[in-house]
Amino acid sequence: MNRLKIAIGSDHGGFKLKEEIKKMLQEKEYDFKDFGTFSEESVDYPDIALEVARAVQDGSYDRGILICGTGIGIGIAANKLAGIRAALCHDTFSARASREHNNANILTMGERVIGPGLARDIVNVWLETGFAGGRHARRVEKINDIEKGTNQ
Ligand code: RB5
Repeated sequence: MNRLKIAIGSDHGGFKLKEEIKKMLQEKEYDFKDFGTFSEESVDYPDIALEVARAVQDGSYDRGILICGTGIGIGIAANKLAGIRAALCHDTFSARASREHNNANILTMGERVIGPGLARDIVNVWLETGFAGGRHARRVEKINDIEKGTNQ
């Protein structure tokens, strides 16, 4: 069993890719929970974003993966919660940097943008890369200060 606990979710536009990524998480023995949606019937992405982002925010899950048609709307919604750093990544360079530099705790992707092979690679890199800390920690702390209003 892999040590990371992962919350995953999608809207209808990301449903098929979510199912594909779940297969990969199973193969790699990650501990994960699917927060929906559970079919291709139309749903509103902010509802799913909120469920997954809350689960990461309150510490029940270490990381989140959110998928919609573009990865944009679901990430905008997730980033409204304090402490959530959702990163839209459609290449492995950005996926690695979002972890090393930004300590991203949610990965977002768009099913209508990339194929399942690339998405699997992105998820792999993103899950396996650690935060570099140092000057990057100072910058992430400044994001926290903006959230708390203590940056004045
Ligand atoms: C749903 O049609 C689509 O708008 C959604 O999946 C996402 O792309 C929004 O950002």
